[in-house]
Amino acid sequence: MKKKKTNHFLGNWRGKKYAQTEKPEKPEIQPAEACTEPGEARAGWYPETAPAGKENPKKIRLPRRRNAADVPELSPLQSGSTDIVDILAPSSVDLCHRDYIVVDGVYFTYFYLTGYGYATTVGNGWLNPFVEAGEGINVSFTIERQPKDKILSKISQATMINRSRMRDVGDTRSDYEELDSAISAGLYLKDGMNRYNEDFYYMHTIIEVSAESLELLEQRAAAVQNLCVSQDFFCKRADYKHGECFLSALPLLGMDADIERKSRRNALTSSVAAAFPFSSFEICDQSGIMLGINQHNRSVCIVDIFDSRKYSNANMAVMGMSGAGKTFLLQLMALRFREQGIQVFIITPLKGHEFRPACEAVGGKYIKLSPSSNDCINIMEIRRVSLDTDAELGSSRADSLLADKIQKLHIFFLLLKPNISDEERHYLDTALIECYGRKGITYNNASLFDGDGAFKEMPTLKDLYALLSERPEVKSLALSLSRFVTGSASRLGQATNVDLENKYIVLDISEMGKDLLPLGMFLALDSCWDKCKESRARKKVIMLDELWCLIGASSNAMAADFVLEIFKIIRGYGGAAVCATQDLNDFFALEGGKYGRAILNNSRLKVVLPLEEEEIGRVQEVMGLSDEEAMQISRNSRGEGLLCAGRNRISVSFHATEKEKYLITTSREDLEQRIGGV
Ligand SMILES: Nc1ncnc2c1ncn2[C@@H]1O[C@H](COP(=O)(O)OP(=O)(O)OP(=O)(O)O)[C@@H](O)[C@H]1O
Ligand SMILES: [Mg+2]
Repeated sequence: MKKKKTNHFLGNWRGKKYAQTEKPEKPEIQPAEACTEPGEARAGWYPETAPAGKENPKKIRLPRRRNAADVPELSPLQSGSTDIVDILAPSSVDLCHRDYIVVDGVYFTYFYLTGYGYATTVGNGWLNPFVEAGEGINVSFTIERQPKDKILSKISQATMINRSRMRDVGDTRSDYEELDSAISAGLYLKDGMNRYNEDFYYMHTIIEVSAESLELLEQRAAAVQNLCVSQDFFCKRADYKHGECFLSALPLLGMDADIERKSRRNALTSSVAAAFPFSSFEICDQSGIMLGINQHNRSVCIVDIFDSRKYSNANMAVMGMSGAGKTFLLQLMALRFREQGIQVFIITPLKGHEFRPACEAVGGKYIKLSPSSNDCINIMEIRRVSLDTDAELGSSRADSLLADKIQKLHIFFLLLKPNISDEERHYLDTALIECYGRKGITYNNASLFDGDGAFKEMPTLKDLYALLSERPEVKSLALSLSRFVTGSASRLGQATNVDLENKYIVLDISEMGKDLLPLGMFLALDSCWDKCKESRARKKVIMLDELWCLIGASSNAMAADFVLEIFKIIRGYGGAAVCATQDLNDFFALEGGKYGRAILNNSRLKVVLPLEEEEIGRVQEVMGLSDEEAMQISRNSRGEGLLCAGRNRISVSFHATEKEKYLITTSREDLEQRIGGV
């Protein structure tokens, strides 16, 4: 978010100081001087023990210590019971130090922005740097509205006095400028209240720093001080007053009188509104998966891609050059989705073996679809029990499962033999009906099941081949199919021999060969779609690595269409599609970049990992990134990327645990180490 400069704080109104110059104010007692003994510091912990004669207008209502005589008699039951204060109160508090307190073993130190220590001009969200300062740094700010009529008359009076004093002060005197700015601040406040109907507030800002160790506490405290300097704010450490600050920072609306006075700053409504701290560079969805650390403020980045209130669709596109961490990120997400019980399908048109260790480690199913593999998914198998996606909601349309399957098999044949004639399609249709008929399967869905309610034996490509071979009209079709029956790819034409019920399925089509790749893609997608369409309520993710293989210049428009279809309609089935690609020039090559653009447009979430300079320009243009964001992409290293989630864009460093990394690394060094370590 770019900060827009506005003049929300036009100087601090020092009416009081100048109004009382005739009657000099008692010198301010510094907290360090006020209580040099640890015992005194402890006394300050209880607001009731504030210095005598100084009425504390905002007492913190804590239970008063009682003398033994005051304590009412309690029943044995009451005296032994635990009440709310017992539960809320820390079990130990150490207040004997100047720089910090220790509450239940955690070190706390406090800073407050002094009344005069605010920048004169601040932009919207000026508190954000403090809010986002990172772990162990919290900001508490209190605002109190003051009665307008009383304040207005005070300001008018003080401004009048300051004006008359100004006449006596020569412009060479050191306080001339100060007096001048006090007058203009007074006028600014009056103007805001009178003309723009703004309210007048006192604002107090306390910064809390906590850490598990003293060393870390000091490091964080130094970071806060540096941050204040960089933001042009003047903060003071609350020496000996950390106990009071601890209480003041609690959401009890009770500030310690001393801290309240020292940190008091006047502000108008617009200035207070500019402090609104909840607009931040953060993505932290409640039930999402952890992706990594936000590089901007070290906060955790948790994304729930299925949150339809935030993201219009749950699709995600990951872009990056070779070795940037795409496969790593995809597997990281897949493992975390699986942990949430979400169904995961991964389709890998290249280097499918990279997905195997993690898949097997989580009890998933790694299926290799290739002419050489023993794994087979029967393309002719009918797996769904109903075509009605709302079957689980009680709806029961009896649309024919066989008709649907036959329609899909026509596409399969179109991929197998692109120049198929109308006549051949007609004969194919009849042959398919007959083929299923021989197994007792008809358009009636009940015919799919045997007496026990299990699916009947399904025909295979071998059965179809036998049938087609009987007819001379479709000999050419039988010939095309022979590769899957008697030829080199005959293992692909058998009955299904893999479990498709698993919740983590990797479909490796990387060894299908270029000519069979669209068929492999069709086979993989067909089985995924069947599972996806079973329920609209259950979440599921289809992941596609190396997408350029499927929609790039060298691919075929049909395979690209399958992919695009997933991105367009999976939302309707409660699912998400996640793809990863390198070589963006290729990605945007097929049919003038139609597929690449459509996939990006249908992905609400995008991750841009490190890219080549030339590709950064292309992504910047397609995604409308700012120059700064483009620069950030070029600065990022492996495993770091720009996450664009809706309107939020943050730079994230993707983090895996040691165990996850062990399972998903593709780096040669890691693998070598592992072999060496065996
Ligand atoms: N976030 C990360 N944390 C730790 N290591 C990472 C991270 N991202 C990537 N790596 C390391 O970089 C290696 C290469 O990453 P990966 O295999 O994901 O690259 P890629 O972008 O898929 O490359 P290619 O396009 O060539 O397949 C990983 O095996 C891993 O060791
Ligand atoms: Mg990869």
